[in-house]
Amino acid sequence: MRVGAVIVAAGRGRRFGDGRPKQFVELGGAPVLAWSVRAFAAHPEVERVVVVLSPARAAAPPAWLPEGVTVVPGGVARADSVRAGVGALAEEIDVVLVHDGARPFPSAALISRVIGSAGRGPVIPVIGIEDTVKRVDGRGRVAETVPREDLRRVQTPQGFPREVLARTHALGDGAAWAEHDAASLTDDAMLCELLGIDVATVEGDPSNLKITTPGDLAIARRMVESGVIPGGT
Ligand code: C5P
Repeated sequence: MRVGAVIVAAGRGRRFGDGRPKQFVELGGAPVLAWSVRAFAAHPEVERVVVVLSPARAAAPPAWLPEGVTVVPGGVARADSVRAGVGALAEEIDVVLVHDGARPFPSAALISRVIGSAGRGPVIPVIGIEDTVKRVDGRGRVAETVPREDLRRVQTPQGFPREVLARTHALGDGAAWAEHDAASLTDDAMLCELLGIDVATVEGDPSNLKITTPGDLAIARRMVESGVIPGGT
């Protein structure tokens, strides 16, 4: 089985103090994105790595990208960027891992778990919810308590047989999920769900956090400084 990874980092994201999108902010001596690119480039089962950048950055790729990594320009919505990345993978690739560049700490064990299942069909890493979950109304008042037993938080990398991912994205231009605007497709498994394709789950990793706010970045920095995550420079 031949595995390729698509790391999407073409979003404008939230801006931090230094004015850069979150995936390019410094974390432990390297940009946030460099951490996830390294994790896939160093994984023995991952053969090809494609990084999707904004058209401006793709035209002048950062010097820190490891050799052998392919860079392609992304699109307006995340799904467009994923489609561009998948299109850059050769036909020989059997399984595609799609990862958000804003998640710097995908462990080798997590990547292996996803690969281990993805040959049989789409798979996503998930973690349970410990907090009590409530739905609130438009004014922020509690409407109800939502049973949490069946709820999961979803991470990336998400794994797909290449032809399933290529098929779901190709169908996207006019079929089952046309009523969903592209911006509402927050992950790739959603396309499978909308098209009735089964999606399996594997155990995610609490350290595999997504950097969305400056607070998340502060947590990630503490994880590197304290040695919870090895590899800071
Ligand atoms: O906006 P959000 O944090 O959900 O984006 C998830 C990932 O998708 C980020 O890594 C972002 O850079 C990427 N993305 C992209 N192309 C877009 C929008 C988002 O590659 N047009």
